[in-house]
Amino acid sequence: MTTRRRFLQVAALTAASAFAAPAVLGADKNKKYRLALVGSGWWGKNIFNTALASKTVEPVAVVDVDKRQLETGIKASEDGTGITPKRFTDYREMLEQIKPDIVINATPDHWHPLITIAAVHAGANVYVEKPVCHTVNEGIAMVKAARETGKKIQVGTHRRVSPHNQQAIEFLRSGRAGEVGHIRAFVHYQGGAGSPAPDEPVPDGLDWNFWCGPAPLVPFNPRIHPKGFRNFLNFGNGQLGDWGIHWLDQITWWAGDNVYPKSVASTGGRFIAKDNSDGPDTQTVIYQFDNFDLEWEHRRYSGNPPEKHNIGVYFYGTKGTLHLGWQDGWSFYPSQDCNGTPAEHGDPKLDKPDDQNIAGLWANFIDSIEKDRLPVCDIEKGHRSTTLALLGMLSLKLGRGIVWDGEKQVIPNDPAAAKLLSREYRAPWKYPAI
Ligand SMILES: NC(=O)c1ccc[n+]([C@@H]2O[C@H](COP(=O)([O-])OP(=O)(O)OC[C@H]3O[C@@H](n4cnc5c(N)ncnc54)[C@H](O)[C@@H]3O)[C@@H](O)[C@H]2O)c1
Repeated sequence: MTTRRRFLQVAALTAASAFAAPAVLGADKNKKYRLALVGSGWWGKNIFNTALASKTVEPVAVVDVDKRQLETGIKASEDGTGITPKRFTDYREMLEQIKPDIVINATPDHWHPLITIAAVHAGANVYVEKPVCHTVNEGIAMVKAARETGKKIQVGTHRRVSPHNQQAIEFLRSGRAGEVGHIRAFVHYQGGAGSPAPDEPVPDGLDWNFWCGPAPLVPFNPRIHPKGFRNFLNFGNGQLGDWGIHWLDQITWWAGDNVYPKSVASTGGRFIAKDNSDGPDTQTVIYQFDNFDLEWEHRRYSGNPPEKHNIGVYFYGTKGTLHLGWQDGWSFYPSQDCNGTPAEHGDPKLDKPDDQNIAGLWANFIDSIEKDRLPVCDIEKGHRSTTLALLGMLSLKLGRGIVWDGEKQVIPNDPAAAKLLSREYRAPWKYPAI
């Protein structure tokens, strides 16, 4: 019957081995890894709490340049395990004195490279948050540090272990959406124009100079810290660097990590925003690959009412369109007789708080350490996906498109653009060598 729609639930697909849960803990079930949390903010504590609950770790240190945030990490450890870890405000002292087995690096983006590289050289395996870095060459240095030391670096792109994301990628790979020639990834959030907040004196207990670190030292503003740095371009890369990396990572996963865009061109700006951040409120990026093109778009001031979905990726195939989302799971809309009703759908399976899949990613991280193999979100994969986001921002900042040589990771014959693959570090911090 042509009008009949099949509505498949997750269960039908989870039977397939390709959708199996991530690997569980390896051989030594009693081993407790000595864990240090660096960056005891919102997401750092999500990872920390998950790690503590996994019973794979003994918390030995919490590091934060803001003593108020530091205390929340200490409390999380005491509540979760009864253990009071050592307090640090300087990660270098912590690495020197504690020599942890594992470091969670959940600092703001501009701090990911230096702390991660120092940690692996101090003998730790690292769970680092996305985007892995602020400029592309830092990511190259992070991959190099991982390979030189043999340490594992897991990137917090937890969607690679999320059951509904795995189902959607498998659906696409099985050919059921046909050949995919165009992909559109997007995040549209309501929020309007916002309003500015004045600079303020640095709060007691916060070492603001250290917080800014290798980035320019700017006046303290409560919109930057905590949590707001994402939309301040000295420290983050706007919506593309924050949310875009998650969705671009789905595309590098689907396409294969060694598939690169040949060119990248972005437009956008701050057309609506009245707040005091400087990230674009509107942005479009076109990435030209050999066999498909990819479009990123975001708006930070309104949702997406005419379309069904506010967040995610549309894969446009010859047999239909697959939407891969977050809290709305995945849906496949066949190209014929669709009328906006998904023919197939998978619900998400997400963990609280904040609807994530950190537990699966943590289990895979421990497994990778125990079995001495690369984790599912190995630093090289995270770096490739981060690079897509950063190249989009690079093009926007430059005001024109660029050519990208993904094999060599260079922008050829274009010194002005190539210069933006790195940045000046503020002394005494030194840009990592590649
Ligand atoms: N994977 C995900 O789904 C996901 C979700 C949210 C956030 N994140 C990532 O987590 C990271 C942290 O984001 P957040 O929202 O938790 O920010 P946050 O501001 O809440 O926390 C960051 C913490 O790092 C501390 N910090 C800054 N510099 C430091 C340094 N040199 N040493 C030690 N501590 C330092 C800050 O004081 C703050 O407490 C970001 O990279 C973000 O992109 C990932």
